[in-house]
Amino acid sequence: MVCISSEMEQKAFITFILSAVFSSSSCVARQYHFVNQNLSWTEAQRYCRENYTDLATINNKNDIEDLLKSVNDGQIQQVWIGLQKTDSYKWKWSLGDPAFYTGNNSQYRNWKPGQPNGDGDCSNMNPGQWNDYGCNNNLPFICYNDSSKGFIPVLQTMTWRAAQNYCRENHTDLVSVRNQNENEQIDNIRINAFTTSGVWIGLFRDSWEWSDQSNSSFRNWRKNKPDNSGGNENCALVWVKSDRGQWSDWTCDSKSQFVCHEDKLVLIKQNLSWNEALKYCRENHVDLVSVNSEQIQRRVMNVARKASTAEVWLGLHHYCAMNMWIWLRGEVVCYQNWAAGHGTGVEDCRYEPRVGAVQSGGDQRWISLPQTHKLNFICTNSED
Ligand SMILES: *[C@@H]1O[C@H](CO)[C@@H](O)[C@H](O)[C@H]1NC(C)=O
Ligand SMILES: *[C@@H]1O[C@H](CO)[C@@H](O)[C@H](O)[C@H]1NC(C)=O
Ligand SMILES: *[C@@H]1O[C@H](CO)[C@@H](O)[C@H](O)[C@H]1NC(C)=O
Ligand SMILES: *[C@@H]1O[C@H](CO)[C@@H](O)[C@H](O)[C@H]1NC(C)=O
Repeated sequence: MVCISSEMEQKAFITFILSAVFSSSSCVARQYHFVNQNLSWTEAQRYCRENYTDLATINNKNDIEDLLKSVNDGQIQQVWIGLQKTDSYKWKWSLGDPAFYTGNNSQYRNWKPGQPNGDGDCSNMNPGQWNDYGCNNNLPFICYNDSSKGFIPVLQTMTWRAAQNYCRENHTDLVSVRNQNENEQIDNIRINAFTTSGVWIGLFRDSWEWSDQSNSSFRNWRKNKPDNSGGNENCALVWVKSDRGQWSDWTCDSKSQFVCHEDKLVLIKQNLSWNEALKYCRENHVDLVSVNSEQIQRRVMNVARKASTAEVWLGLHHYCAMNMWIWLRGEVVCYQNWAAGHGTGVEDCRYEPRVGAVQSGGDQRWISLPQTHKLNFICTNSED
């Protein structure tokens, strides 16, 4: 197959014009489904695993908004989510979205010798090294702003939770430290901004885990929660009316409505050509994935990291007749994430058609390849 026949070209062109005009929909990679049945947490988990992917996982504030939107019944007070208490305490970052981390840089630690020594579930930097410390102590702190990529020192002293609220409302979150270089940058900010030495960073310890084994350490507890007030509150729910979007711990046997999630992106770890991959996705799922927004790119990055090939096919192909790149559903490539030297120049249409893949490591940018390469690929289950 060289380029597309002229009748198809016309059709694709019209589809492309229409979709350029009418398509504003961003297909979300993970979709929430509200279930209006009163079940215990374990029953709800079973229901979600049978009918969707699992009980809902939440990675960030946007997910909370999406989840709340899925609850289309004004009478609902609270819904179960997939968070449950375990016996295993681990250190995690307040900025808990797995998409923020690459490799295992969420596991970078710079404890002071002898630390953590078990005297608290929050941690401070003092001077460049870290200590565990009681969360109710008042310290100044450093926020991280994801739009400016900046570290912002705040001189007011607060408890760790109040500092977290401050950073989330005014920036993105309490600062995460992902490597030695960031540790040095942040320590320099600490030295220049504060006279006291201990400052809160985003590291905290808890024993809550997601039902789908996701690494999201995002938590949005209501004030003074979790408190295990009944002595047996090992499951988490989200408040829908009052304290909308905030979480509480609750007895798992209690009955509640709940929210499931459905993964929309599936990594297929078979090595196929682009045409074979396309056929596979259309037969077994819906299509090869289109990455028409940064949000989907982030999800794709998470999924692609687990691939066994250095690149992973996307539903991206070069349309020779117009010398342009389009997504399978005819959308023009607006959001772009090309590696340097890819996707911009004129492609050579004399040989095999060129198609697009995302790198599974590094910056995870897009590259142009002949369709005969054999790669893993990502299918979508989303119809929109
Ligand atoms: C956000 O910053 C403003 C100004 O510094 C402060 O008054 C406010 O309390 C902060 N928000 C939170 C939730 O702490
Ligand atoms: C932090 O990010 C927000 C948007 O989330 C932006 O409006 C604000 O100016 C940024 N603040 C700083 C100090 O960079
Ligand atoms: C969670 O993180 C661990 C350690 O970084 C990693 O081995 C594991 O694959 C991650 N799990 C998922 C579901 O991404
Ligand atoms: C696919 O290719 C990669 C890289 O060449 C290889 O490591 C992997 O084992 C292959 N997978 C299969 C299922 O053949």
